[in-house]
Amino acid sequence: MSKINAAITGIHGWVPEYVLTNEELETFLDTTDEWIMTRTGIRERHILKGENMGTSVIGTEAVKGLLEKTNTAPDEVDLVICATVTPDMLFPATSTIICDKVGIKNAFSFDLNAACTGFLYALDTARRYVESGSYKKVIVVGADKMSSIVDYTDRTTCVLFGDAGGAVLLEPTSDGLGIIDSVLKSDGMGRDHLYQKAGGSSYPPTHETIDARQHYIYQEGQAVFKFAVTKMADVSAEIMERNNLGAEDISYLVPHQANMRIIDATARRMGIERDKVMINIERYGNTTNATIPMCLHEWSPKLQKGDILVLAAFGGGFTWGSMYIKWAVNGSSK
Ligand code: UT7
Repeated sequence: MSKINAAITGIHGWVPEYVLTNEELETFLDTTDEWIMTRTGIRERHILKGENMGTSVIGTEAVKGLLEKTNTAPDEVDLVICATVTPDMLFPATSTIICDKVGIKNAFSFDLNAACTGFLYALDTARRYVESGSYKKVIVVGADKMSSIVDYTDRTTCVLFGDAGGAVLLEPTSDGLGIIDSVLKSDGMGRDHLYQKAGGSSYPPTHETIDARQHYIYQEGQAVFKFAVTKMADVSAEIMERNNLGAEDISYLVPHQANMRIIDATARRMGIERDKVMINIERYGNTTNATIPMCLHEWSPKLQKGDILVLAAFGGGFTWGSMYIKWAVNGSSK
């Protein structure tokens, strides 16, 4: 019997309605559309407004749309993994809340946190369950409400992030398509350069942590930039090399959307032209765990069975990784 691979057979992305433009940021920050566009490539981002509206609201919309598109009954789902850095609460897991809201009752579920590489880590974890032969329908949802941890008085971080969610359905296939290989890495020395200091067990919330604005994202942009450019390109080159892939073999690079300059550097290193790179950072900004599934969602109508995709990401921790996929379905047939 031929090997069981895990294939993405359906995908859905969701963004909240409200659009925060660079022009609106100019009204309350010392910044300009020109600076943001030149340094990052971001023009606007979507923000989830409303009281008590957490990441599960976003994840639920993504998963609900996925179930509808793929004609999947909630009871058929075996496992849901939610990749997020902005869970509704520290516990219970946001995945359990999403399952409850969409009526998934026969699955087990958990959250996974690997910062901006979380979706890749979750996809790789999920594929192992499918490859085992025991699990037939596994959902990976990458969702983040970044606006809940962004300091809108800090111009160096608040222009970067947005809210979004994307979900994929993984199913077994024996035709040699699906997820073929992955390279995942982490190095905890990066923790000083990008973090949300307070709110966990080291620095539980106090008046002092709130006064010191330690519940927001802290980022040393240049240090992170330097590592992101090198590591995302390294790992993309590594997966090409060990699978004998040339630039001409690759249908699309699907990069994490943190900065247009990081995306360009990765594509250059791989020898890939811009028209073969999925880029939507201009409209959404950095949505952390949702960037890659949002790209797949938007490009899926164009994708053909057998197309070769390389996914690549870099994020806090540091964490980084790449994945080689042979696309398993034609267009948006699901
Ligand atoms: O997804 C997770 C991983 N994260 C990343 O990959 C992000 C990596 N880092 C970056 O993308 C970039 O470092 C940033 C976009 C965050 C910043 O771009 P940069 O080219 O590294 O700028 P910089 O931090 O060196 O700042 C240059 C100048 C500074 O002013 P001075 O000190 O030269 O006077 C900043 O204060 O730009 C200033 N600046 C701004 N000016 C206008 C910083 N933010 C802004 C702003 N508007 N929003």
